[in-house]
Amino acid sequence: APTTYSYLEVSEPRPGVGQVTLSRPKALNALSTPLITELNSVLQSLSTSPTIGAIILTGSPKAFAAGADIKEMAPLTFSSAYTNSFIESWSDLTTTVKKPILAAVSGYALGGGCELALMCDLIYCTTGATFGQPEIKLGTVPGAGGSQRLTRAVGKSKAMELILTGKFFSGEEAEKWGVAARAFATHEELMASVLDTAETIASYSKVAVMAAKEVVNKSQDLALRDGVEYERRVFHSLFGSEDQKIGMKAFAEKQKPEWKHK
Ligand code: HXC
Repeated sequence: APTTYSYLEVSEPRPGVGQVTLSRPKALNALSTPLITELNSVLQSLSTSPTIGAIILTGSPKAFAAGADIKEMAPLTFSSAYTNSFIESWSDLTTTVKKPILAAVSGYALGGGCELALMCDLIYCTTGATFGQPEIKLGTVPGAGGSQRLTRAVGKSKAMELILTGKFFSGEEAEKWGVAARAFATHEELMASVLDTAETIASYSKVAVMAAKEVVNKSQDLALRDGVEYERRVFHSLFGSEDQKIGMKAFAEKQKPEWKHK
């Protein structure tokens, strides 16, 4: 029986592609703790599902997510945030999901919404999408990795400008600066393209796809020499996989590979 969720819709729009749509329309998909808890549990099950090879995370044409839930945060104290590890569970997205997550961003991606998109493995957006880290206007700072991931994406000077002023930036700028991999004129084009990309990824060997995600993400954590060495270890280890044999044999025989672990 299909599971029902309070703040999400979950579907499999293409073979091997799991799509999670944030759906809390009255609050522009503000990311409350119950929403994040649901999101983590759905992503966990997609991540371990044998039939899913790639995951799309999206919102509505109006909002990917307008931030963490300001009304939930307003009364928090240091002691309650600290002792309850407020926000910490958001990192489950990056630490426990081994399959690629593609963010499809239309409308607002602000504060925690921008950070949620930055946590994904790649971002596609509309040119008219609105990104930003406006926490400074609320008397606080990004709390879900924005100061680190946005800085790695756009460089220090631009990240400082964006985080210190809280100024929004467009999807067109996001693409130009390398925050987004691609920007599209309309929501429909965005969704068509993200589905195609996710389906392409899901058509490959899971072993290779998960290894590729792992090595690229290591580049964000490790010094270059360590990262290159890490990549080589993973590369060597893939000679122990059936799918490396299948892929290279198929190339030599001019056949389409039939992956063992798709
Ligand atoms: C709670 C929110 C919300 C949010 C919007 N809403 N954003 N509720 N938290 N982040 C609610 C509004 O209160 C309103 O509810 C309804 O959604 C519609 O929003 P409006 O403001 O009426 O819409 P509009 O005039 O179109 O303006 C859109 C907007 C604006 C520009 C996106 O809503 C806005 O500035 N939102 C806050 C953006 C922001 O500051 N995000 C960063 C949050 S801090 P009612 O009940 O009045 O209809 C953050 C920190 C992250 O994310 C740190 C760690 C995760």
